[in-house]
Amino acid sequence: MIAYLNGNYLPRDKAVISAEDRGFNFADGLYEVIRSYSGRLFKLDAHMKRLRRSIDELRIPFDDIGKVKEIAERLLKENDLSSDDATVYIQITRGHAPRKHGFPPKDVPPTIFAYASAFKPHEQELNEGIKIILKPDIRWTRCDIKSVSLLPNILAFQEAKEKGAVEAVFMRDGAVTEGSHTSVFAVFDNKVFTAPKSHYILPGITRDVVLDLCRKRNIPFEEFPILESRMKKAEEFFITSTITEITPVVQIDEWMVGNGKPGPVTRELQGSVKELIEDFLR
Ligand code: PDD
Repeated sequence: MIAYLNGNYLPRDKAVISAEDRGFNFADGLYEVIRSYSGRLFKLDAHMKRLRRSIDELRIPFDDIGKVKEIAERLLKENDLSSDDATVYIQITRGHAPRKHGFPPKDVPPTIFAYASAFKPHEQELNEGIKIILKPDIRWTRCDIKSVSLLPNILAFQEAKEKGAVEAVFMRDGAVTEGSHTSVFAVFDNKVFTAPKSHYILPGITRDVVLDLCRKRNIPFEEFPILESRMKKAEEFFITSTITEITPVVQIDEWMVGNGKPGPVTRELQGSVKELIEDFLR
């Protein structure tokens, strides 16, 4: 597999960084994950806009977003993924310098690392739905930045895995924020709810896709917190991300959502996303 590191395309196992990289020492960096369908990068501009914002919020000196687009496209070609489904991972850190909390001198270039891998959706999860667990949201209050500092997400996700679940969903102040790596939606009385954008959640690209589809299909929706006190009344739940697309949730901790099967609103949205991607590829 060919990866990209700081200006070079090279075998992934040859892509090595300094032990003094600030990504390694401080998790001082950010990332993006983009999905390609038949070799075409989906919602590329939205991902680039969010990347730009993460870079600006972390004050990393990097201007050339056009270059990142070029890298993502070239990685698909280099890895023979031009007609396949794939994901592209891009990570930018504040570069390497002796470990000091303050920013390094201005001439220290950021580290830019990226790779593309073939991707197959998890059909069983998409069709049958998944179990999730609920965990207190112990993360920092700038979850809107796509930082590589993901320790609470990793610990929560690992616990989910160990309990036979597929995602851990965070609760803060009596409401759902988001999953360890997904946005979360619920359906009450045929109306779709998801947490409003704030510093407590990542502005998911797939989240925006789903809300746009609700608009187009006249499915009622509200960006309003999913309250813990009402959760068991939800008819449907689903999680979304670039990787998981729209995955139904049929079990939360030990209770079953609705009748334990993916619901009609989730199914309609899954069908609409499929059509959207077909249109995108036309
Ligand atoms: N995760 N919330 C969090 C905390 C996430 O990490 C992600 C994405 C999302 C969904 O965002 P999007 O729809 O733009 O993929 C929400 C990526 C896929 C990851 O960490 O691998």
